[in-house]
Amino acid sequence: MKKAHINNVEIAYEDIGSGPAVLLLHGFPLNGRMWTPVVEALSDQYRVIIPDLRGMGESEGTPVTSTTTSMGDYADDAAGLLDHLNIREPVVVVGLSMGGYVVFEFHRLHPARVRALGLIDTRSEGDSPEGAKGRAEQAKRVLAEGSHVVADAMKDKIFGPEVDPALKQKWHGIMAGTSPKGVAAALEALRNRSDFTPTLGQIDVPTLIVVGEYDVITPPAGAKAMHAAIRGSSLEVIPGAGHVPPLEQPAAFGRVLRQFLDGLKH
Ligand code: MLT
Repeated sequence: MKKAHINNVEIAYEDIGSGPAVLLLHGFPLNGRMWTPVVEALSDQYRVIIPDLRGMGESEGTPVTSTTTSMGDYADDAAGLLDHLNIREPVVVVGLSMGGYVVFEFHRLHPARVRALGLIDTRSEGDSPEGAKGRAEQAKRVLAEGSHVVADAMKDKIFGPEVDPALKQKWHGIMAGTSPKGVAAALEALRNRSDFTPTLGQIDVPTLIVVGEYDVITPPAGAKAMHAAIRGSSLEVIPGAGHVPPLEQPAAFGRVLRQFLDGLKH
């Protein structure tokens, strides 16, 4: 993993291949290794950049002097990483679930840097008041008891019924081993995030929407609604996958993303 000092945080990232840049943003509380199974399908023609979002994976968390973390912080870190890598041309920004929420913020805050969007197993809505309250309570428990609180709650929800039990166990361990402060900060960003639904009609870059057939966290119905609202977007449902198609069905997911990138004719 490479490291760069960005916005007062040490961000770990991978930078693989060469060609037009594609930024891959992971979900909560995962890390950039969730994209590893699909890198090979892209890196012969594309420069694949995979940060660990602050506080997750090998990236440092928000400094203690700063009291809050927002989705905008993760988006600004991604833009700072592009600066660090001297990438000035617009890039394809792809995010899964929470990574998708960061994609929406990145598009709002840094529109000139966006060539196209990939919205993978995500949603445009913010949290409901009850959902936000649940996140605040969960954050308190994570700080007191550890990240296994979230890992235990998520392990059965993120994967579809066909998942290899070893994969599920491996990612349960990764989630449980994520820094409690990083997880609590992400829960804060999640509960305070904006609702992008009213602005979906203003998206004017090519957009790929992908959802796993069995995703129960951000189900196919929501993906279809985003597809209807984003002009010219394409929608792909990955058979047999739950909430994380890049881990569950990497060949099918890699094909879909590759086809989208090739179709952009950089
Ligand atoms: C994720 O996979 O990033 C989270 O499930 C997103 C969420 O909880 O809203």
